[in-house]
Amino acid sequence: MDDPERPAARSGARRVAVVGGSVIGLACAWSIARSGPATDVVIHEPDDSGPDGVPAKGAAWVAGGMLAPFSEAWPGEEAVFALGVDSLRRWPGFLAALEPHVPPGPPVRTASRTHMLAVDEADARDLDMAMEWAARQPDPADSAHSGPALGITDADLRRVTRRELREAEPSLARVARVAYRMDSEGAVDNRVLLAALTRACRAEGVTWVRGAVASVDDVDADRVVLAAGAGSAALAGLPVRPVKGEVLRLRARPGCEDPPRGVVRAFVRGRPLYLVPRDGGLVVGATQYEHGDDRQVTVGGVRDLLADAETVFPGIGEYELAEAIAGLRPMSPDNLPFLGADPADPRLIHATGHGRNGIALTPVTVAAVLATLQGLAVPAAARAAAPDRFTRG
Ligand code: GLY
Repeated sequence: MDDPERPAARSGARRVAVVGGSVIGLACAWSIARSGPATDVVIHEPDDSGPDGVPAKGAAWVAGGMLAPFSEAWPGEEAVFALGVDSLRRWPGFLAALEPHVPPGPPVRTASRTHMLAVDEADARDLDMAMEWAARQPDPADSAHSGPALGITDADLRRVTRRELREAEPSLARVARVAYRMDSEGAVDNRVLLAALTRACRAEGVTWVRGAVASVDDVDADRVVLAAGAGSAALAGLPVRPVKGEVLRLRARPGCEDPPRGVVRAFVRGRPLYLVPRDGGLVVGATQYEHGDDRQVTVGGVRDLLADAETVFPGIGEYELAEAIAGLRPMSPDNLPFLGADPADPRLIHATGHGRNGIALTPVTVAAVLATLQGLAVPAAARAAAPDRFTRG
């Protein structure tokens, strides 16, 4: 299945294949290629259906692009939270390195804060409980250095009054019972990110094989990085299942209300909702269904998203409904990805199963893959994501 246009591997160079060329695969390929001159990196990815050859069938094309460990926090998910915070702390450096490859047009980062609110009383109680739990967690970036682990700060997470919420996000309806603000969170434009990573890979000499991989054993390379998302179950027997999510993309029309200035997340009637600013509009997400390999957008999904979004942001009715799209999140049983060396196959490195957080966890995934390739320890927060955690005795 070799691509006829692919240059021959350089003699003596280490050959790394990345199976899966969406956000995780692209970021790993780029980072591996730029980490040393003596490595040839090939991405195996059949999907080049987006603009400029970007993959447009994976979850990353659909995603909201939120960098949101605090607003995703949930008691009992200590390891998921620590991994998310670690990755959030790496985003500024990751974006700075990517900056030269960002195509002309909108920037990668589209928001640099989140407000999280609850509309109903029961949702408000849950939100207070989750945020109080998150505020007590240690910061993994501190614990990676010497000294006692420090906690999450007010800049990461603080309760705000309704008046503060109104001043920060004047276009929202006055429906919040409880609201929190996260100044270290935000969002990236998933499609600009994919475009920038594709260009960055090309600039580092990464090449592509445009065919589906039926078995990891067929891949001719010294090391293989598995970044195949929901396809990873079939390729490596990992417990990764597809979880469908529907998302709407809305475009601003002349005279309509400005979109929220930052990310707005809410629980409305028990359902989670997010509004993510984008150049010229916003993304509304996301539903969540365990329907297997189903990517169809349903009437009920669109109805619920629009109803919940209008409860929080009434100006939405004037927007153009530009796109309704569904993707498959690659979810694991404990909501952690699989990061690091395969226990049975010394060639194989896992970078998959990121569930709701593929984009958010990209920088820490890259760090874990690079460390594994170099024979170094993965970041402390990634240890809980060891690929053998469900099988070791
Ligand atoms: N990252 C949010 C979602 O999966 O809906």
